[in-house]
Amino acid sequence: MRTETIIAEPQLSQLAENLIGSEIIKIGGQLNARIAAGEKIANLTIGDFDPKVFPLPEAYVNEIITAYREGHTNYPQANGMEVLRKEVARHIARKQGLDYNANEVLIASGGRPLIYAAFRAIVDPQDKVIFPIPSWNNNHYTFLNSGVQVAVDTSAANRFLPTADDLRPHLGDASLLAVCSPLNPTGTSFTADQLGAICDLILEENNRRDGRKPLYLLYDQIYSALTLGDTVHVDPVSLRPEMRPYTICIDGVSKAFAATGVRVGWAFGPERIMQRMHSLLGHIGAWAPKPEQIATARLLKQDAVVDDIIAGHNAKIQQRVEALYTGFMAMKAEGFPVDAIPAEGAMYLTVKIDLQGRTLADGTVLNDAEDVTLFLIREAKLGLVPFYAFGADRSSPWFRVSVGVLHMEDVPAIFENLRNALGPLR
Ligand SMILES: Cc1ncc(COP(=O)(O)O)c(C=O)c1O
Repeated sequence: MRTETIIAEPQLSQLAENLIGSEIIKIGGQLNARIAAGEKIANLTIGDFDPKVFPLPEAYVNEIITAYREGHTNYPQANGMEVLRKEVARHIARKQGLDYNANEVLIASGGRPLIYAAFRAIVDPQDKVIFPIPSWNNNHYTFLNSGVQVAVDTSAANRFLPTADDLRPHLGDASLLAVCSPLNPTGTSFTADQLGAICDLILEENNRRDGRKPLYLLYDQIYSALTLGDTVHVDPVSLRPEMRPYTICIDGVSKAFAATGVRVGWAFGPERIMQRMHSLLGHIGAWAPKPEQIATARLLKQDAVVDDIIAGHNAKIQQRVEALYTGFMAMKAEGFPVDAIPAEGAMYLTVKIDLQGRTLADGTVLNDAEDVTLFLIREAKLGLVPFYAFGADRSSPWFRVSVGVLHMEDVPAIFENLRNALGPLR
């Protein structure tokens, strides 16, 4: 019988053939298989809200139903309904003191298409894109635009946010710097001083460029409403108005209103850039559904309702991150190799579970963060996302804990299981 070696030839575009899957989804898949098999695991990997804990606000539900009943079911305006763009402009003026008009706002179906369009509008093939590590999906957006990734490491000492000193050596010939605050995955936030110093670097760099394509800043503030304690959300244009021509901000309803399935996001920035992004997205058709746009505009009009919803979400997030932070600190005090960074915003807590090199009862050694992640799922019944899923090295002992899916009554069992799993390690 004749045997043949079949050489797999790429059948699709280089881009499609080389797409990398999400590490978070990979870990989620392993977790779901165990949960489906009947194991009770606290799955805190998901950067989403459990509607049982964070339901869509009633006022929003009602506006959406009303908008459908009123028959707003044909195509929306391609750059977003004017009524919504005006309300978004008013919302950011009210919340951040920013002065943008409706033509400087672009609506799409969530933050993702807007981030994609911002990259697309700025990054030419082989252009350098700088982003800090850990960060969410910038590697994928850079790849999709054939850019060159410049991933800059950050440190726990700086709450995993980049400093001007971290970024300075890399700005020279880059087109885009992508940062996020409050940050997914860490739940930490820029201070005015930290972000101001980065803006100063960009302004210096652009002065040097003297008319050549400038360095732009993508400021992902999708978690801007979710600030905890005394934390105040800061943004580049409020801190340094000269940043306005270079700054594109991303925001939306997904996190502020626990509305990840509603799919309404907005970008704001220079009108020319918004127009180009609008043209790109028009071909893709990534519009937010028209009834949801009308409903969001009507919701945003109700300042007191909006403020109440956000305060309610922040209180629930605060309660959850505090319970986990307290639990990890108690374990640390007992001598377990764990730590945590106080959360300042978003819906995440950064924890350290430093088990690499430790040995299980059967002699297996935990060699890297993937081993530790799987050990936590298996033995501690706890699903967390290791920082390597956000670009860090596999030796990083840091993990993201998402509290959007955390039921408070599960907290005691989480720590009991963790103590039981970590106790016997050698
Ligand atoms: C940092 C960050 N930016 C943007 C998004 C996208 O949000 P959306 O669901 O509105 O597309 C997410 C979603 O998880 C996020 O974590």
